Amino acid sequence: MTGAPIVFEGATVRYPGSDRSAIEDVSFEVGGGELVVLLGPSGCGKSTLLRTVNRLVPLDAGRVLVDGHDVAEADPVELRRSIGYAIQAVGLFAHMTVAQNIAVVPGLLGWNGDQIAQRVDQLLILVDLDPARYRSRRPSQLSGGEAQRVGVARAIAARPRALLMDEPFGAVDALVRAGLQRELAAIVRELKTTTLFVTHDVEEAFRLADRIVVLRAGRVEQVAAPLDLLERPATEYVRELVHAGDDVYRRYFMHARRELERESR
Ligand SMILES: Nc1ncnc2c1ncn2[C@@H]1O[C@H](COP(=O)(O)OP(=O)(O)OP(=O)(O)O)[C@@H](O)[C@H]1O
Ligand SMILES: [Mg+2]
Repeated sequence: MTGAPIVFEGATVRYPGSDRSAIEDVSFEVGGGELVVLLGPSGCGKSTLLRTVNRLVPLDAGRVLVDGHDVAEADPVELRRSIGYAIQAVGLFAHMTVAQNIAVVPGLLGWNGDQIAQRVDQLLILVDLDPARYRSRRPSQLSGGEAQRVGVARAIAARPRALLMDEPFGAVDALVRAGLQRELAAIVRELKTTTLFVTHDVEEAFRLADRIVVLRAGRVEQVAAPLDLLERPATEYVRELVHAGDDVYRRYFMHARRELERESR
């Protein structure tokens, strides 16, 4: 089974009371199984765009299609169950154990207890947390990086065909972050989950992305594969954002990328 394609057609959001659109006429496609990174500075509309996919933010114009179906016509609860979602703030339920947190969506989908317990252990191993040590802990007993891993495990628990990740590794140090990026790349590759990944970290974008969507003040500035972005930036804004033309950065990014590809295989 491969991931569900996601299509944006003229997606536009204007928050009530705001005098300008948070996102404006955004159109691009994420292919089934593709990992697309939304890249741009704070306030450019990354989170807003991501949240239109699971209808946490309604569109004022345009459409978003998941697997060919307009999300505006989907049942929002079912939609959210079918799409994994991980956020920077992690959002684990404090009163539940790690295992219970991971099991939320499988539980809602009616998986039986054995299936769930097996899946929880499998996921904990996948994100490099020893099930015996971690499954019964509470979120307050985890480090920031461990909590983010649990957040990622929860997002992919029910094998969604689409995954939305909003700066999921924002709160962890560089070393843990590199490990989580590696795990994510391997997981997405293995499960062929369509993934929209938000970051404002250029290096992270270059390490993970099949393609990068550069946003500027709510509009798409360029959509391109990482190397194309470096070699053919469409605008001065993109050129500066990715340090195109700076050979040191270029080599650094491409090295980081090759390293990740090798390690996540
Ligand atoms: N609930 C809201 N009501 C009104 N305006 C909002 C709301 N959420 C976001 N905005 C505005 O919409 C714009 C885009 O915000 P968004 O959160 O999508 O940016 P972002 O690219 O994710 O930024 P960051 O990198 O800081 O997370 C900003 O100008 C923001 O102030
Ligand atoms: Mg954001």
